[in-house]
Amino acid sequence: MGTYQDAYRHSLADPDGFWLDAAGAIDWITPPTRALDDSSAPLYRWFPDGELNTCHNALDRHVDGGRAEQPALVYDSPVTGTKASFTYRELRDEVARFAGVLAGLGVGKGDRVIVYMPMVPRAVVAMLACARLGAVHSVVFGGFAPRELASRVEDAKPKVIVCASCGIEPTRIVEYKPIIEEALGATTHQPDAVVVLQREQARATLGERDVDWDEALAGAEPVGCVPVAATDPLYILYTSGTTGRPKGVVRDNGGHAVALAWSLPNVYDIHPGEVFWTASDVGWVVGHSYIVYAPLLVGATTVLYEGKPVGTPDAGAFWRVISEHGAKALFTAPTAFRAIKRVDPDAAELAKYDLSGFRTLFLAGERLDPETYHWAGEKLGVPVVDHWWQTETGWPICANLRGLEPMPIKPGSPSVPVPGYDVRILDPDGEEVPRGQEGAIAIALPLPPGTLPTLWGDDDRYVESYLSRYPGYYLTGDGGYVDEDGYVFVMGRTDDVINVAGHRLSTGSMEAVLAAHPAVAECAVIGVRDSLKGQLPRGFVVLKAGVSITEDTLREELVAAVRREIGPVAAFRDVSVVDGLPKTRSGKILRKTMRGIADGRDEPVPSTIEDPAVLDALRSVLRAD
Ligand code: COA
Ligand code: AMP
Repeated sequence: MGTYQDAYRHSLADPDGFWLDAAGAIDWITPPTRALDDSSAPLYRWFPDGELNTCHNALDRHVDGGRAEQPALVYDSPVTGTKASFTYRELRDEVARFAGVLAGLGVGKGDRVIVYMPMVPRAVVAMLACARLGAVHSVVFGGFAPRELASRVEDAKPKVIVCASCGIEPTRIVEYKPIIEEALGATTHQPDAVVVLQREQARATLGERDVDWDEALAGAEPVGCVPVAATDPLYILYTSGTTGRPKGVVRDNGGHAVALAWSLPNVYDIHPGEVFWTASDVGWVVGHSYIVYAPLLVGATTVLYEGKPVGTPDAGAFWRVISEHGAKALFTAPTAFRAIKRVDPDAAELAKYDLSGFRTLFLAGERLDPETYHWAGEKLGVPVVDHWWQTETGWPICANLRGLEPMPIKPGSPSVPVPGYDVRILDPDGEEVPRGQEGAIAIALPLPPGTLPTLWGDDDRYVESYLSRYPGYYLTGDGGYVDEDGYVFVMGRTDDVINVAGHRLSTGSMEAVLAAHPAVAECAVIGVRDSLKGQLPRGFVVLKAGVSITEDTLREELVAAVRREIGPVAAFRDVSVVDGLPKTRSGKILRKTMRGIADGRDEPVPSTIEDPAVLDALRSVLRAD
């Protein structure tokens, strides 16, 4: 591991030198003279005196530098039967004009714009147009319900919302405009305008503050790139925490551009002119970093796929897209492969496509189970690379760095810490544990460029949520261990965050919905193992004394409430009525013990338990399944 070890050591021993070197891959308006600003530790900033524009780096410089006619973005949408390709010039021109539309609506540097759109090229256009203006985008995933959208509107206070009239799910058309109207009906903050991209599958009725995308674009003038400080925010992406209130993860401009431009060749081995396909959604961090920004920052071609791994139309969809567009690598979540394997266990569909140019499969977003790892490797005949990261970090914490120095793959491990990340395993007292022993995975500060500098408008919450548990470290929320070769094994969250089909959700927010039901006295939601989605939420409720509601009715109402309040993406379908919840004598619900029992582990009865009989009763409910 010579090259990797050298790079890793260099990145920790001399972060200034390492990252200033990496910053050479970016076009700066004012080049940074130093990398790390630690004057406000534990809050760190990168490239404090640098100035740039992220959109210029993603588009204009490639147009000027000889890639004008190269495809920047390939759109493949089996759900609408559409395929399209946009060169760097075409994408730049469209973005410059849409930036003109936003500027005409009063959007300027630092203003927030919420983007609530499905996987269409104009979602990328909207994001890059914000970057062009120095405005801050906040993309909200289409599978979230009005209440989730409302909480993001209230926190980000957008000047403008950009949306499409609908998203297309295999079984239904999801109309976005009514969701926005319902959300805005519940917020005190109101945007000045809502720009609506009309899609033929369901056109929206436009009201007074609504602007039709096409009409506005027809009259708009292109605008240029606005210089911003490297430390200015590029976007806010809300993610689930342990409470119901989502956390607004902030991404800056400079550190983000440098880190992503470093990661694509070094981690993913993708270079200018090559095709990279990330099958996720622009509403998630994976989509932000590896559908939109990283491929464009390095001058590669990105594929935007509006479809599913199965059913659009069949389990060969991924192989078709790889072969048709010449993707060198695919990055998706293990759940997508479990879905394909379930429908086509022999991968018979593969025989129909030429995948000779395909080099690597990257998986992340949730634990990669050994069965899926082996199946994918055997069927595709390429390395299957697990890597581990989070919305907060924006790019991989641990990976097998395929472009820097490919290493042996150990199933079950996302390999080694990526340069810039000083990964440590800590015991509850904050002491490092010996190799092989499990503990909390923490990262010694400072985090590298590209990671979150703070939470939107709330430094205190950032410090409290991530930096105060172990002073001097960032708490990842995951538990795991490092083996004798330095490989990291991520064993799962130590908090109440769950991962459903690669989608990060908070059981706390589901509990808040259940607790609001008039018949419910108390409740708990835990994540239980699922063979397709990795985890599924499972609810337990205790009824208030004297209520008369049948269990079936209550169940239906609770399932409907979570779908209405959080969204279909929560996939909440399973709730049991129980006599009591296992608690400590101080009243804390023993969720970890419940999770263990649900996953079939032989959980010890905690010594602090208030009433062991409650736990026994719960065990029999779970065993009955
Ligand atoms: N807008 C509206 N609704 C959406 C949505 C969107 N953008 N995305 C998902 N939903 C809905 C689905 O229609 C589904 O609704 P239903 O309960 O009425 O069926 C529900 O949310 C759950 O969706 P999903 O988790 O996607 O489950 P699924 O059963 O439809 O598909 C997989 C399962 C595995 C095929 C799918 O999750 C998948 O393709 N995952 C790929 C991995 C991925 O993108 N991960 C993101 C992070 S890397
Ligand atoms: P998100 O913020 O949605 O990217 O979710 C981040 C969380 O997903 C992490 O904290 C982990 O719990 C989990 N996760 C992501 N990648 C992996 C992986 N490769 N192995 C295990 N868990 C992962």
